[in-house]
Amino acid sequence: MATKDAVVEVLRQVNYPGFNRDIVSFGIIQKIDATEDAVAVQIVLKTNDTAVGDQIKAETEKQLKKKFVKHSVRVTVEQQAPPQFSTQPQQPQPSFLPMIKYKVAVASGKGGVGKSTVAVNLAVALAKTGMSVGLMDADIYGPSIPMMLGVSQKPYYDGKKIYPIEKYGVQLMSLGFLVDNSEAVIWRGSLVHKAIQQLMNDVAWPELDIMLFDMPPGTGDAQLTLSQSVALDGAVIVSTPQDVALLDAVKGVKMFRKVNVPILGIVENMSYFICPHCGERTDIFSSGGARKECERLETKLLGEIPIDARIRMGGDEGVPIVAGKEDTAQTGVFMEIAGNIKAQLLEHKK
Ligand SMILES: Nc1ncnc2c1ncn2[C@@H]1O[C@H](COP(=O)(O)OP(=O)(O)OP(=O)(O)O)[C@@H](O)[C@H]1O
Ligand SMILES: [Mg+2]
Repeated sequence: MATKDAVVEVLRQVNYPGFNRDIVSFGIIQKIDATEDAVAVQIVLKTNDTAVGDQIKAETEKQLKKKFVKHSVRVTVEQQAPPQFSTQPQQPQPSFLPMIKYKVAVASGKGGVGKSTVAVNLAVALAKTGMSVGLMDADIYGPSIPMMLGVSQKPYYDGKKIYPIEKYGVQLMSLGFLVDNSEAVIWRGSLVHKAIQQLMNDVAWPELDIMLFDMPPGTGDAQLTLSQSVALDGAVIVSTPQDVALLDAVKGVKMFRKVNVPILGIVENMSYFICPHCGERTDIFSSGGARKECERLETKLLGEIPIDARIRMGGDEGVPIVAGKEDTAQTGVFMEIAGNIKAQLLEHKK
């Protein structure tokens, strides 16, 4: 007998082509039927690229057949046109999060480049500059901020509103608080929109100077909904130095520009390595790529963050390096980036 859970477990071993994230966390699984002798999975993709669809279908079938040898296995992949960017100026709803002065997305085209790590450390760094700061984990497919801030309790709900949790001077809210991980498995586009809106409408946010939005990777539906409905004041794009990541970063920059969200700049993460023994700097991937791309895109290079075990451990242990290791050069880089973002926002308005 095949169970849905067993099928999901198998699907989690199939990565979305080009990403190191599995297809379940990408939210593309539409339906799973599991019976005594059959397994059927429906997948819906928002891309015209049939090679992606073919690859996902083949790999999913292969993995399912391996696990459910005695079952008939059927995988259907429906491909829909990707979301269209509106070229109209965005029409923000004036009442959307009016208590928050500046709303800034932390985004990237590519997954796994360190968006959440950067968002968490920047939020703590901004709080240290004296701003009141909110952090919204808008990654509906893989919320990771509560873990990175060491928050395991659920937020208080008074029957009407949900109250954000404060940690390291940052007001935090995450979809991870509201649904079980298993519930988030099958999300359709319309549900994604609803979830994001709920996170913003049903939360008792206090008055805040700035809110950072940790975005899901990519330039699809969720990113577009968020950018268009929140009236973002800016976007920070995170990239690693490799060409593939930079290409995706450029896509991200273009997406935000199309919906008239100013780009505050690019952060190059995992930029270089400082040997903890001899202090020598090594550019592990390549160097200068982000700087060149910034020049071409006429945007700022906000900072270069080294690859550093303490940054990763900070995330795993729930104590961001900016909060736990204040006198390190790494914390210094985050503080500098935070200062730069703050200065740009203050210069522009309000
Ligand atoms: N500068 C760094 N040095 C060392 N490790 C890092 C650094 N930045 C991020 N990491 C590690 O890389 C992994 C991915 O980072 P993170 O989860 O922040 O990426 P992401 O872009 O938010 O990923 P996703 O697209 O899945 O949301 C994590 O384990 C994190 O601790
Ligand atoms: Mg993330």
